[in-house]
Amino acid sequence: MAFMQWHGGPLPRDSRVYVAGHRGLVGSALWRRLRAAGFTDLVGRDSAELDLRDARATAEFFAGTRPHAVIDAAARVGGIAANAAHGAEFLSDNLRIQVNLLDAAVATGVQRFLFLGSSCIYPKAAPVPIREDALFTGPLEVTNEGYAVAKLAGITQITAIRRQYGLPYISALPTNVYGPGDNFHPEASHVVPGLIRRFHEAARDHTPVVHCWGTGLPLREFIHADDLADACLFLLDNYDGDGPVNVGTGQEVTVAELATTIAGIAGFRGEIHWDTSQPDGTYRKLLDVSRLTGLGWGPPAIALPDGLKATYHWFLDNQSNYRG
Ligand SMILES: NC(=O)c1ccc[n+]([C@@H]2O[C@H](COP(=O)([O-])OP(=O)(O)OC[C@H]3O[C@@H](n4cnc5c(N)ncnc54)[C@H](OP(=O)(O)O)[C@@H]3O)[C@@H](O)[C@H]2O)c1
Repeated sequence: MAFMQWHGGPLPRDSRVYVAGHRGLVGSALWRRLRAAGFTDLVGRDSAELDLRDARATAEFFAGTRPHAVIDAAARVGGIAANAAHGAEFLSDNLRIQVNLLDAAVATGVQRFLFLGSSCIYPKAAPVPIREDALFTGPLEVTNEGYAVAKLAGITQITAIRRQYGLPYISALPTNVYGPGDNFHPEASHVVPGLIRRFHEAARDHTPVVHCWGTGLPLREFIHADDLADACLFLLDNYDGDGPVNVGTGQEVTVAELATTIAGIAGFRGEIHWDTSQPDGTYRKLLDVSRLTGLGWGPPAIALPDGLKATYHWFLDNQSNYRG
């Protein structure tokens, strides 16, 4: 295939696009979105076929496949418990995955690269709504420090590549993501799949009370994976700036509202007990999405209750093979 030079504007739909992590929550949504947009040459490898922690295997894959564009949705990801239990691996695995991908991309002339960071890499005390320029301004949340430092290194590498090689590589910082294909493992999951599983099991077993941590009062923001994927394609088509771009909905719910909505969807008729002896975590984490909306993206298409219902039904349909 002839080497493609990207000169701005929408990514040509015959570009060879490698979606790293294409079977994960975000990667599978990206794959669906790119297919729907008419991309005809998508490439994906699961971690059994290509372990991205292996620099040589990653370099050989790029040399053989020669993608024009890469979206990095491959990462070691998990909730608070997983981060606390595997902090060293979260740091080491994520650093290696992204360094190997970015080194191989530069070496083989990949024209566009989208690196996915996360809203949880902002300083613990960043003013809300959190603007992109709050990155690197203060101490991190201790529970996910390893993950956050790795992701901050990825954003720094993107900036360094832009400066040194002039390549149009970019990064995005999504808020909490949920949707079909999420990880419902009881210890490794994020809040939405964790609550879906707990309320489903409680409804099934006629458990009278479900205990949740904290007061339920903190506010959180959630984006459906399909909306995130749409925003990622929008950025690849429209954005070539130095700084990362927040990707969120601009809307918040309390943790209690989220739990009540999921309980209702799962048919749980018992009581939700808030264990106020447990910590709440940060009270608000809303992202400032004015950079993204200013570029012309939005509003997101999937309202939270609709997305939660669809995710619950995906969980029911895939219980036999969901991860965990
Ligand atoms: N989920 C969220 O709430 C959230 C929020 C903000 C940002 N993000 C970002 O979005 C990206 C994707 O997250 P996700 O939620 O989609 O996670 P996920 O569902 O756990 O998917 C992660 C993917 O990474 C792949 N992967 C992990 N280790 C690998 C390795 N050593 N070699 C090759 N592939 C490997 C996995 O491949 P296999 O399945 O084949 O093992 C999987 O497809 C991450 O960068 C994350 O930081 C996620």
